[in-house]
Amino acid sequence: MKIAGVVLAAGMGTRMKSSLPKVLHNIWGAPMLQYVVDALFALKPQKTVVVVGKHSREISRAVTYPSTVVFAQQKEAKGTGDALLTAAPALKHFNGTVLVVNGDTPLITEDTLKKFLSLHQKMKNSVSLLSFDADDPGSYGRIIRDEKKGLVSIVENRDATASQRMVKEVNSGVYAFEPDALALLKEIKLNALKDEYYLTDIVGIAKAKGLKAAAFLIGSEDEFTGVNTREELEKAREFMKGRIVKKWADRGVDFIDRNSLSISYQTTIGPETVVYPNVHLEGRTKIGKECTIYPNVRIKDSVIENGAVIKDSTLIEDATINRNASVGPFAHLRPGSIIGERAKIGNFVEIKKSVIGAGAKASHLSYLGDARIGKDVNIGAGTITCNYDGYKKYVTTIEDDVFIGSDTQLIAPVKVGKGAYVGAGSTITCDVPSNALALSRVEQRNIEGWALRKKSKSTVRKTK
Ligand code: UD1
Ligand code: CA
Repeated sequence: MKIAGVVLAAGMGTRMKSSLPKVLHNIWGAPMLQYVVDALFALKPQKTVVVVGKHSREISRAVTYPSTVVFAQQKEAKGTGDALLTAAPALKHFNGTVLVVNGDTPLITEDTLKKFLSLHQKMKNSVSLLSFDADDPGSYGRIIRDEKKGLVSIVENRDATASQRMVKEVNSGVYAFEPDALALLKEIKLNALKDEYYLTDIVGIAKAKGLKAAAFLIGSEDEFTGVNTREELEKAREFMKGRIVKKWADRGVDFIDRNSLSISYQTTIGPETVVYPNVHLEGRTKIGKECTIYPNVRIKDSVIENGAVIKDSTLIEDATINRNASVGPFAHLRPGSIIGERAKIGNFVEIKKSVIGAGAKASHLSYLGDARIGKDVNIGAGTITCNYDGYKKYVTTIEDDVFIGSDTQLIAPVKVGKGAYVGAGSTITCDVPSNALALSRVEQRNIEGWALRKKSKSTVRKTK
């Protein structure tokens, strides 16, 4: 099927009351326009024109487009009719079906678009549109049909009579055009009430010229909610969330309480992973199979390999956790942290830009920053890498099989050689050779009977 696509994305979106262009408002980690572009590109159009306006730079940057996209600049937001006219020069040499979608209907799906296109082509229409029954037809354009159910026109809410407003069948903003109908765009008259050229007027114009036009009622509200207000954005998020969760559940992910979760559009999750309540998976997070993500965890742009366990109340950002490692509860992995296979990161441990070797353990209350930590290292409770002198950051290197006693400070740059021990409570300021014991604490002194003498003195004082 030879098609070209047009996405209308140049509107001002004033009803959002936002300085951000409407089509860039976020739905689970991606601008809403991304969803529209992806659904459209699933149909493999030969060419696609995205109509952009004042915010063209932001819009071309914020979305990932296939290479066949071209942008058309609409000088002024003079309405959807004018927007499509702006795209027309880029399609001059194309003579197939042009599929037009609004940039503010992020819930459209590939399947429905395909169904629509095949109906359009089967019926040999010059122009078709996709309609749906809205619970509350609100600001949508009403589909006006004659007594034989044939399409007569689309009437915008603000131009509709009281009885037309009662019509529940509305325009989704998805259209298919053949070249003969596309050629009539110039005949759309300015709507004086809104000072805009309505694309929807093309139906009446085409019919008057004897061209075939029809509306196919194949959509549903959960696919064609147009996002014009914050409230509609919220509604679109809710529908999209249901879709994302279902997609992963269908592939074998066990969600304990889907209502309390959020999962970004780009996140992937392997089968037989269990996701507990109140987990937030953001950005390009990739979770393997058979992982467990316990409650109150937020993971952003990170990779969690198969079998890893993330315990309660943990924050992970731009990090990698290798197979069967365990992180948390109450851990914070900051960007650049790489946790080795079977390693264990426990309570109140913060890690930044550090590599933790396979089987290593930092089970309690530590800060490890800019550190290279080898295999099977034990980091005792309260260990701190002192990596910053107020000007620069320095690296701490701890080689394989090292044992760092509790409450150790490692003043970077510093290196602890393979198999060495560091005694608890030490402040390590210079390198420790392999297999050595480093101790840097003051030797203990016991003063016999001191406590008894102190006690008796204070009793004397009290009785005075
Ligand atoms: C439009 C339809 C309405 C339909 C609804 C579906 C018209 C006149 N009305 O109404 O029948 O029910 O969508 O959601 O078309 N845009 C431009 N340039 C402009 C104006 C708009 O590119 O000058 C873009 C917007 O960015 C948006 C899309 O076109 O993505 C639709 O515009 P919008 O103003 O939201 O139209 P609606 O009032 O929702
Ligand atoms: Ca709209």
